[in-house]
This record gives sequence, C-alpha cells and structure tokens, in this order.
Amino acid sequence: MTGKDLSIEMCGVRFPNPFLLSSSPVSNTAEMVARAFDRGFGGAVFKTVHAGRTKIIHPSPRMAGYDYESQKLVGLQNVEQISDRSFEDNLADIRYLKKHYPNHPVIVSIMGFSEEEWGLLARGVEETGADMLELNFSCPHMTVEGSGMKVGQAFELLESFTRIVRENTSLPIIAKMTPNITDITEPALYAKRGGADGISAINTVSALVGIDPDTYIPHPNVAGKSAMSGYSGPAVKPIGLRCIAQLAQCKELDLPLSGLGGVETWIDALEYILCGSSTVQMTTGVIHYGYGIVEDMIEGLSDFMDSKGISKVSDLVGKAVPNIHPTDAFDLDYQGVARYDLDRCVGCGQCYIVCRDAGGQCLGWNREERRPIPDDGKCVSCMICSFVCPVSDPPMISYEHVPGKKEIVPPVSS
Ligand SMILES: Cc1cc2nc3c(=O)[nH]c(=O)nc-3n(C[C@H](O)[C@H](O)[C@H](O)COP(=O)(O)O)c2cc1C
Repeated sequence: MTGKDLSIEMCGVRFPNPFLLSSSPVSNTAEMVARAFDRGFGGAVFKTVHAGRTKIIHPSPRMAGYDYESQKLVGLQNVEQISDRSFEDNLADIRYLKKHYPNHPVIVSIMGFSEEEWGLLARGVEETGADMLELNFSCPHMTVEGSGMKVGQAFELLESFTRIVRENTSLPIIAKMTPNITDITEPALYAKRGGADGISAINTVSALVGIDPDTYIPHPNVAGKSAMSGYSGPAVKPIGLRCIAQLAQCKELDLPLSGLGGVETWIDALEYILCGSSTVQMTTGVIHYGYGIVEDMIEGLSDFMDSKGISKVSDLVGKAVPNIHPTDAFDLDYQGVARYDLDRCVGCGQCYIVCRDAGGQCLGWNREERRPIPDDGKCVSCMICSFVCPVSDPPMISYEHVPGKKEIVPPVSS
C-alpha cells in the first residue's frame, strides 16, 4: 500500500484519508469497524444509535438487489432500521474503537425519538471519546412514526433537534440530509442555523426497486407487503453528486461536506471530492466487494495526485464546482459534430438505427460496406450514436467542436 499522505481535515478533525464507512450494517459493531480500519479506511460513521427506549426490529427480508442485465447490484433497496443494539452496547463499542484506534476518527450517527432523547444521545456519545456526531434526519423508511426523513423534510423540527444536540455537546455535528426533497440546500441551512458544523449527503433515495410479476408485490417482499424505501449504490451516484455540488455552491451555507451515494471506486470518490466533499462515505460498495475496496481507492487517489503534481487532498476539494453553471449560461454559438473513425467500425449499424429513431436522422447507411455515412451539415451533435457504439477504448465516435458551425434548423412537419 502506498505511503502517500492523503490526510484531510473536516470540522476540525483530521482523517488519515478521506475514505469513510457510512452509517449502515457495514459499521454496525466495533469488531467490523476495526477490520475496516485495518484494511485502510480513514474513519467511520457508526451505524445509527438510538437511546434504547424503543425496540428496533428489522423487517425480514430487509434488502433487495437491483441487477441490470449481467451487472449485479447496480442498486440496492433496503428497509433496514437504525441499530437494533442497546445504547450501552453501542457506547461500549465506540469506547473500544477510540481506545484501540485513537487516530481513526469515529463519527457516531444518532437518532432520537423525542427532544429529550437527542440530548441524551449527544451527552452519552461524547463521553465515549467519539470525534463527531452525525444526525440522521434522512432514513426514508423508519417504522417509528415521526423520525428519519420525516424530520429532514420538516425544516423547523430539524433545526430544533440540531439545536438541542448543539446545546448538549461540544463535539462537531454534521447533519445527514435526505435527497427526497426539492432543494437540498434548504434543510441544510436550517441545520446550520441549529448549530451544525457540516453536512453529509445523501442518505438513500426513496424508491421501488422492482415488482414480482407473479405476485404483484414489490421487492423486498416482507410477508406479502413491500414499501417505498431506501435505494443506494452506483445507480444513485449522479443524484448524490448533484446534491453535494448544490450544497457546495450555496454561499450562505459555507460548511464542510461529506459526500456519499454510489461510491465504489477511487474515481467515484474523486468526483465527490471535486464537487466539494472533504470526506467520502460508502456502504453499498462495501456490501458488494468488502472492506478491501479501500485499498484500490488509496492507491488510485495517490497515483492520480502524483500524476497531477497535487500534494494535498484538500487542494482537490470543490475544484469542479466553478464549472457547474445554470444552463442559460451556455454559449449556444458553440456547435459541433459527431466524428467517426470509420477504419475501426465493426458494421453493427446501431449508430444508424439510433440516429434514425431517436436522433437527427443525419446518418446515411452504406449497405454493401455496412458503414454509416456521416453528414456534418445535418449532425445535431446529440452524441447518442457514441453511447450505443460498441467500439470503445478509444471511442470510435467522438465529439468535435466545429468553429463557425451554424445551429441546426429543427425539422418541421410536412
Ligand atoms: C442496508 C442499509 C442500512 C442503512 N442504515 C443506515 C443508518 O442506520 N443510518 C444512516 O444514516 N444511513 C443508513 N444507510 C444509508 C447509507 O449510510 C448511505 O447513506 C446510502 O446507502 C448511500 O450510500 P451508498 O450508495 O454508498 O450505499 C443504510 C444503507 C443501507 C444500504
């Protein structure tokens, strides 16, 4: 494993690297988190702890995988609840971790079911030596009424619970946001007003992962019933990136961010960092591949930084944000074409079909040679031909800017 310094500071706490377990079954016990630290994780958000006054029972089965063609676990749906362990057991585990891994920050996710419980949780966790608190305002499928995402969608309640935690601890507080909302910066600003020092996003996306065509029951089938519940994994990464970038662009917010949703590779993690995350969390990637995924992340990010001559991870944080604009900022005089490297064409005809049925109808087709006949003047540069073309690495079809090319005149009905 590389010896490069990937350390980064967030909310006054220094992490050996930006890669953290997110709060979920992958961070359920001290033994598990310790193994993740041993593999290289720079920190962990401990599975959401509660005060122990409400019995937590997980539905069975509690997860359903979403496979797309031969690709396993593109997404994951779960109805898992917060920790079903006692408060005392969880506190003992956190104490153990802080004793044996003093340089690995442990963030403890908490969820109260009353104002009093939020205070009690904050005080109890602080005594363990934990480094930070994450407030779970975002689980979309809690079976306990008025908790999780319901709080994240009721901004004043979110602010008041954050304030109670603030009044009961001197630890840094990050508030974990739900993506199941119109504008994620709104609840984040309420959290800031309540005293949050940072924001994490996203928790799972409320979804239905699929329906059994024989029983008409969506997955997971819990004794004949299902529910709209939390969706995670690679399929949600674009939503997570958008949420983090929105939070990073919000000048009034101006708080450190921890990004998550679909991180499985060092490039996924880098994308979150470039969108403004100081740390990056993950669950579904670990469910799919185990704690070992962090080794590739450390190596990949280190090599990337070396290749760019970047010495500190913090120099990468938010570097993509100035490049994200409202669409009305686009230069519409900038036009181009799809450029074909026909020597490498395999003659499958997919570009021709997609251009005819969903694009600008600008490709001709040479039947004898089985080759597309591009027409630069007609090409609308939608680029869908390149998305279906099987010849990649390097791509056979690529975008090329054509200076002076006029905008395309749209078709009119005949
Ligand atoms: C089975 C499961 C249980 C989870 N439990 C919690 C939880 O207790 N607290 C919490 O804040 N988030 C919980 N999450 C959400 C994850 O921490 C994370 O926000 C989400 O899965 C998106 O990240 P990913 O795509 O890397 O999984 C859970 C996710 C899964 C899949």
